[in-house]
Amino acid sequence: MKSRARRLARHSIDTTGHFQLMNILVPNNVHRDQPQLSNVDVQLLERLNQRDADPDFWSSRQRDRSDSGHRFFQYPAMMVPVVQRRLIKELIGVQSGVASIYDPFMGSGTTLVSGMHFGLSVYGTDINPLAVLISQVRTAKVIDGDVGRKLEKVVKRASADGSFVIETDIPNIDKWFKPEVAVELSRLRRAIRSIDASWARKFFWVALAETVRLAGNDRTSTYKLHVRPADEIARRDISPIVMFQSIGEGNIASLTAFREALRDANTVTGQGSYVADSRVRLLDVRGDLKERWMGKTPFDLVMTSPPYGDNHTTVTYGQHSYLPLAWIDFEDIDREADQGALSTTHEIDSRSLGGRGTLSQQDTDRLFDTSPSLKVFVESLSTASTKARNRLFRFYHDFSQSISQIAGVLRRDGYMIWTVGNRNVTGRQVPTDEILKEMLEGVRCAHVVTLSRQIHHKRMPTRNATSATMREEKILIVRKSRD
Ligand SMILES: C[S@@+](CC[C@H](N)C(=O)[O-])C[C@H]1O[C@@H](n2cnc3c(N)ncnc32)[C@H](O)[C@@H]1O
Repeated sequence: MKSRARRLARHSIDTTGHFQLMNILVPNNVHRDQPQLSNVDVQLLERLNQRDADPDFWSSRQRDRSDSGHRFFQYPAMMVPVVQRRLIKELIGVQSGVASIYDPFMGSGTTLVSGMHFGLSVYGTDINPLAVLISQVRTAKVIDGDVGRKLEKVVKRASADGSFVIETDIPNIDKWFKPEVAVELSRLRRAIRSIDASWARKFFWVALAETVRLAGNDRTSTYKLHVRPADEIARRDISPIVMFQSIGEGNIASLTAFREALRDANTVTGQGSYVADSRVRLLDVRGDLKERWMGKTPFDLVMTSPPYGDNHTTVTYGQHSYLPLAWIDFEDIDREADQGALSTTHEIDSRSLGGRGTLSQQDTDRLFDTSPSLKVFVESLSTASTKARNRLFRFYHDFSQSISQIAGVLRRDGYMIWTVGNRNVTGRQVPTDEILKEMLEGVRCAHVVTLSRQIHHKRMPTRNATSATMREEKILIVRKSRD
């Protein structure tokens, strides 16, 4: 069976001539105890390999920016909805009984909204409260049909508000917001609080988050907090209330289109309710996932894109979310959301994978046993600073812990689909996909295939010494072979 799968893959690469664009890697170095590819794996490979109307599909530039509420907030490193949908479609086309999907590192919820097009029960977790809020809004079982009128009400109320009381206690507020901007943001915050319906309030918090991102003095060209030059700040003339209204209207239009698409796919009822379950929570994936997802597991499919390294040196999801979160009521996000997350601008990043902690020699040895590729890579870093090395260990230690938790909540024979990029450390590329593959094999998952796609749109840091902009990403597909 395995050799047949290899032949299929080679055939596709040779005849399409798009080796760089759709490169399918079938396992060559099969572990001694790794099971053969199953019938379902081979069927999946065939479907992924289909030469359809668009041979460049996986790397296509055609992206709808409003697809499934994709641009509610400029969250870093978002996956592409159309690509995730295609993967789900092919997968459920070959494997029966797939009713649920879980994204442990859901970010802004791309996996979940993609799963909703197929009527799957969708579950997601993230350690960043802002990611949780955005995903909650996008994956609501029922959306408020009256949200347009409520938006008018919020804007009217904020515009009529004559108060100059500032509604955030963020340190150095004058650095991050012009006084008149802080006053209008405060008026918006008070107006949003006056809305009774909780989903509508969440919807407005998301629009406010994007307003804060665009109206504040932080540069939008990087994810790290960097204040704009003083002359540029002085020239800017922005009304957050006007901006909020326009963002809110755009989000309503995008959400309406998404729900219409779900209606066309028969995954929302006549009354507008999503046909399956949807649940998003603030959770650290290193914790006990079985306990936290009691009654919902095992999940049938895992689809995710994890961080590629510790946030401090790769993508600072937390810093990027810091200013917006400072204007949002945490009790509207999740019971577990705590203000301590904003104790410093880098607290969320420190709480994320690889963000803090020290490893013993035993931990490092165990990591090297799990991933020979990691060992080879670290040993090749002769000139690397101890700091960079320790960061790498810390990240992969946490990553490995998460992987065993995630494998523990997946059903036997269930698939996992991981999208990863290969980042650089001290000028050398970390073989992220190989390390991930070995770690997954260590939790009884058989590698089925690795797709490779070019990135055109993914927003990654452009000025970061340890993480070059990624031009290619890999999609690893594995199947859990045993419990
Ligand atoms: C690559 S992003 C996901 C982006 C997402 N695929 C999308 O389309 O928006 C990785 C996510 O992992 C989250 N994360 C990092 N450490 C985590 C942890 N320990 N537990 C849960 N989530 C974590 C980050 O907050 C970030 O949102």
